[in-house]
Amino acid sequence: MSDAISKVAEAPDYGLDAPSVVRNLFVGAALGLLLWGLKAFGFWSGLLIFHLFGLKFVIPLALTGLATGAVCGFLGVWMVYDSKLGKLRRRERFLNRIAWTGREQVLDVGCGRGLMLVGAAKRLSTGKATGIDIWQTEDLSDNHAGAALENARREGVAERVDLKTICGACRSPTKHLMWWFLGRRSPTYIKTSNAPRRLAKSPAS
Ligand SMILES: C[S@@+](CC[C@H](N)C(=O)[O-])C[C@H]1O[C@@H](n2cnc3c(N)ncnc32)[C@H](O)[C@@H]1O
Repeated sequence: MSDAISKVAEAPDYGLDAPSVVRNLFVGAALGLLLWGLKAFGFWSGLLIFHLFGLKFVIPLALTGLATGAVCGFLGVWMVYDSKLGKLRRRERFLNRIAWTGREQVLDVGCGRGLMLVGAAKRLSTGKATGIDIWQTEDLSDNHAGAALENARREGVAERVDLKTICGACRSPTKHLMWWFLGRRSPTYIKTSNAPRRLAKSPAS
């Protein structure tokens, strides 16, 4: 039992994509189901009735609530499933299509918590995987460099991963790609980590 618990605790966590969208979907689902539930338990007719231009309109609000609740709930659950399992499976399928030599220099622009970055690093021997990001938390839950480093450590590739934070002044991915291809260090990078040495002392942020 304690083995299972420590396995879960040590499993990489690549976060929840678009957390506010997921939250809004569940709020929508709850409100929709509440509308329907109030009718189901006899608190109201479930109909919205009004008159306009001498015409009588009857809108089945409870039924609309049920449909909205079901759709929003399904999408919310699907987004959680995709963040926790689906995208990991897709990562493996995608990276397995590449004929790796192990010597590649990989750049992951917008690496977030390191999903693709760590997946690529696992296929390297002498190569290195560099991740750059601005770590927006609206794109990914608890999105920061320390989380990517921690995932690299949990997947046993921390020494093959390097992370850089893009400063606020220049957030254009194309410019970063250009610097990287030229083999030069962009002045807009702030180096946040040199895994795993600094990880033990102070997680990058
Ligand atoms: C949906 S997340 C995906 C993260 C990761 N690649 C994954 O698959 O889990 C998108 C990431 O792109 C980053 N991002 C958005 N705009 C960016 C920019 N202009 N430069 C670098 N990173 C950016 C966000 O901070 C976020 O981490």
